[in-house]
Amino acid sequence: MKQLFPAQWILLFFFMASTFARNNQNTIGGNPEENGTIFLGTHAQEQRRLGGDLNNEKTQHGCERLYHSNPEHLWNRLYTALFIRRTKDGILWGCDVSDPLFWRESDYLFTGERYRTVLALLDDFNQSHGERLVTDLLKRALFQRDLLQVFSAITHAPTFGGQQNHARERAAIQQRLAVTIRRLGLNQEQIRQLPSNFDEAVRSKKFSPHFDPKNPGWPFLPGDLFDPKGPWTLLSSTNRETLATNHLGDFNGRSNFQIYVNFPGGKEKLNKFLKMVNAASIDSLPRLPNGTQFVIVRRAVLVNSNGEMYSSPFIESVRSIVHTDTAAEPEVGQVFGDFTFSRKRLLAGQQGGLRPVRPHEMGFPFLVLQSPGIDHLEPHEDNPEGFGSHGERPILSSCIGCHSGNGPVNATSFNLRRSEGRTIETSDTGSEQSLEGLQSLYRWGVLRALMEFAGK
Ligand code: HEC
Repeated sequence: MKQLFPAQWILLFFFMASTFARNNQNTIGGNPEENGTIFLGTHAQEQRRLGGDLNNEKTQHGCERLYHSNPEHLWNRLYTALFIRRTKDGILWGCDVSDPLFWRESDYLFTGERYRTVLALLDDFNQSHGERLVTDLLKRALFQRDLLQVFSAITHAPTFGGQQNHARERAAIQQRLAVTIRRLGLNQEQIRQLPSNFDEAVRSKKFSPHFDPKNPGWPFLPGDLFDPKGPWTLLSSTNRETLATNHLGDFNGRSNFQIYVNFPGGKEKLNKFLKMVNAASIDSLPRLPNGTQFVIVRRAVLVNSNGEMYSSPFIESVRSIVHTDTAAEPEVGQVFGDFTFSRKRLLAGQQGGLRPVRPHEMGFPFLVLQSPGIDHLEPHEDNPEGFGSHGERPILSSCIGCHSGNGPVNATSFNLRRSEGRTIETSDTGSEQSLEGLQSLYRWGVLRALMEFAGK
């Protein structure tokens, strides 16, 4: 996958984004209910306040009990060993984050005590059939998802920079993880019983079901997003491929992504508009009408009991862009929103685990998508002591870096696909279409081979 935004641009953008963050009122506002929440790895101030016994890796604000009330439970220990990190200044990171804080250059899993612990825990898990310790289907699916994220994060096609560091250690973890992942797989009947966390979030009525122009900062989660009779339309590209090819490639098949549009005036107007888009040259793309809404949904791809991948009902994030004024500068003409998920909430039965990202919430927006690959939690050139901000950025003001349009404000996916000479189409095939694109990705090939080699 070619690098769309070279590193220099990303750095320049970081600077602009942090300035913008201070003034920007146009990002999604927090539900007051959400504001007291503490999430490790998302907000430096809150992390520092955690204080407590930082020498004890187990005091991660409940994160040592994500999968079971006993912090010594094998699942909790494995989760902690893979996800939780500590920087030199004693701060703990990575508790309830959606993606492990593992960058392409990271090696914390491959060295020293951590490496030995991870191997020992995985061996213990596989020898003792640790998958049988928990019967709750949602927990099994979620835990498998977490392990798949780690597998994906440590598995890169060799084109990503030639020689891989710690190739042996990497392979040792990959092999073991493949066994664990396969064994956690659910059968067809169990998969059917998995709840839809998106529906639960909508049913909770905690969030507005529509974008409210009078209250643009209020988080909205469109309850009718997947209703074929509703106002949202799934988009695809030439040959019914997903429109989100950059996400697909950069996330290396961790999840599948789908883009939906809610077009002013309805589906007929949308079809007419798409005809114009497909006929136009990249320099003369028609301007979107004011009020066009886009959503990109991230859905977990899991492995069933036969070792085959499937698109699960578990929604990991819902990001939205509303084009309120397409004649204005992109910084003021768009409203960005982002729902992420929390294991704690999901497993506690709260709003399907989905929560809006708070207005100034910090995080690592380039952890996976367009990532320069540097491990921000290790000392590096820009931060030799390993102290300081650790490269956290305001998440919502990072959106503009990749969504600043080109001339008239336009959908990023439209610009990209048209510049590749591909068309934008509507789609009625849902998630299967995205799975086709995933099958051929490097990480899935490695995982399948390892699972087949290990057998059941
Ligand atoms: C590192 C670049 C990058 C960042 C940061 C980013 N996006 Fe995107 N986004 C993309 C790309 C690229 C696409 C086009 C789809 C593809 O090729 O995967 C896209 C597509 C989308 C779409 C579908 C509509 C469209 O414009 O194509 C939405 C909605 C969206 N992003 C929301 C967000 C939100 C909200 C944020 C901030 C929380 C954000 N994005 C941050 C790169 C980014």
